[in-house]
Amino acid sequence: MRAAVLRDVGDDALEVRDDVEVVGPGAGEVLVRIAAAGVCHSDLSAITGVLPQPTPAVLGHEGAGEVLAVGDGVRNVSEGDHVIIAWAPPCGSCRFCLGGQANLCSKIMFGVGLMPRFKYADTMAFGFGGTGVFAEQVVLPSEAVVPIPSDVPFDIAALIGCAVTTGVGAAVNCAKVRPGSSVVVFGCGGVGISTIQGARVAGAAAIVGVDTVAAKLEDAKRFGATHAVLAADLMGVSDEITGGDGFDYAFEVIGLSQTIRAAYDATRRGGTTVIVGAGRSDDMVELSAFELFYMEKRILGTFYGSADVRSDFGRIIDLWRAGRLDLEGMISRRLDISQVNDAFDAMRKGEVIRQVIQFT
Ligand code: APR
Ligand code: ZN
Ligand code: ZN
Repeated sequence: MRAAVLRDVGDDALEVRDDVEVVGPGAGEVLVRIAAAGVCHSDLSAITGVLPQPTPAVLGHEGAGEVLAVGDGVRNVSEGDHVIIAWAPPCGSCRFCLGGQANLCSKIMFGVGLMPRFKYADTMAFGFGGTGVFAEQVVLPSEAVVPIPSDVPFDIAALIGCAVTTGVGAAVNCAKVRPGSSVVVFGCGGVGISTIQGARVAGAAAIVGVDTVAAKLEDAKRFGATHAVLAADLMGVSDEITGGDGFDYAFEVIGLSQTIRAAYDATRRGGTTVIVGAGRSDDMVELSAFELFYMEKRILGTFYGSADVRSDFGRIIDLWRAGRLDLEGMISRRLDISQVNDAFDAMRKGEVIRQVIQFT
């Protein structure tokens, strides 16, 4: 089958091969035919080494498809079910899963999730973040697939597998944005646009999108931003909206120390700064001892939208059905797997919101 493989961290491009095979499914595992896969910035971060990933690896972690076969003991899905892939699967029984923080369950992600699940020639290959959906088929632990109604289009379902859940969840689950509040979102890509939509659903009165690419500012407004500005113009808009106090909530959706610092600075005293972007482990953020106590800002990290995929994927589908989330509009381009490297070029230029690889 065809799959896009990262040979080594730092490579210029993925290798699109047609001789990749899946391993399994064994007991407790599921074989999925991938129908659609979104191209997320975290895939690019695996290529550049911003996020750690053993290689060789089939990239892609935002996907949806159909169950082809299940191994012994699998009870949550059966053959023919449509599913969204969850890249941080909840084991269901640890203290995080039982305590309302299923997104933080690492039992599977750092257990069987780290096993190689592909092979080609004489080589075993990993799947990015334990998934690997830039492939026609993938074998996953059963906890990593969440069944959905079969009328949800696969491209929409794929986006829910990462960007939408991460962004909407940051606003709704993590920050719990209050109706009437003021919000600024740094970074208007697929995850940032989802954060803007989440803030809108939560009832924010003012939502400002910030980006370095002018076209992205128009995108932000299409999805519910009341204002959209280049970073240099944020101060003026903040004064206009907040009277100079700063925003109730600032979301960083890029993954860089300088924009995390900017988000902290844009937050009002007593407000909330939320870190959504996935940055390098050695990219240090500088905050002074004085400001941390004096400003009384809450700094919240959020991982996978602080969501429980078992219930939140369905909640997001319901919001989409009700017309409260525009997910079709987020898809800028549909591609074949052979064009995956073009997709990363477009992402580097900031030209797109979300690109979806479609498998036939
Ligand atoms: N200031 C403002 N905007 C910026 C800056 C900056 N310094 N640098 C980049 N951007 C903008 C880009 O122009 C782009 O519109 O941030 C946006 C990032 O969008 P994508 O590349 O589409 O990334 P996305 O997939 O949305 O992921 C965002 O969330 O899940 C994590 O790993 C992911 O850290 C990444 C973040
Ligand atoms: Zn992602
Ligand atoms: Zn668990």
